[in-house]
Amino acid sequence: MLSTIIYRSQLTSCVSPERLQALVDHASSKNLAIQVTGILLFDGQHFFQVLEGTMEAVLDVYQRISEDDRHFNLIELMRDYAPARRFGHAGMELFDLRGYQNSSVVDALLNRVTLDANRVKGDRVVKFLRSFVEGRDKEIPRRHGSWSPRHNPTFRYLIALRPTRIVHLPFSRLSM
Ligand SMILES: Cc1cc2nc3c(=O)[nH]c(=O)nc-3n(C[C@H](O)[C@H](O)[C@H](O)COP(=O)(O)O)c2cc1C
Repeated sequence: MLSTIIYRSQLTSCVSPERLQALVDHASSKNLAIQVTGILLFDGQHFFQVLEGTMEAVLDVYQRISEDDRHFNLIELMRDYAPARRFGHAGMELFDLRGYQNSSVVDALLNRVTLDANRVKGDRVVKFLRSFVEGRDKEIPRRHGSWSPRHNPTFRYLIALRPTRIVHLPFSRLSM
């Protein structure tokens, strides 16, 4: 069963464009080997990643990512079955928001979506992506090393709800 996990997190410290690209290239080839696809949005400080594949493969990748100390304040935003792949072109593609004007960033992102055009508008994952892209200036900055909501489910839930109006849903079957 095709599944999707979405999370957001914050970069631990400065990372050069070369190191970020190396991370992405390595992750992309690892993902492709287990038929995981997705996209990694980055705005210079925050990550927002969509992972899609079998539930087992996605959970395996997500487990590794959540233990990676190159980022922190990791908040899971969605975990659900998926009707189709949204980013079927790449194991993991980097979408650096800094390379786009505010007026064109959403269109550039939507161009990467591999869903049928008639499904894109109402798609929940696409709505999450838009919400991240359009609301990223409202982020509350957090210092690395400060208390992290990652280990507190209640706070994690509230944070997920507040800035992005996102609800953490359990896996449930979607109608096709
Ligand atoms: C923001 C972020 C996103 C990542 N995304 C992926 C990913 O999609 N797939 C993956 O295999 N590793 C990803 N990684 C790297 C993993 O955390 C981990 O370092 C890597 O999978 C280990 O690979 P290795 O066992 O070959 O050393 C990501 C790391 C960060 C910081």
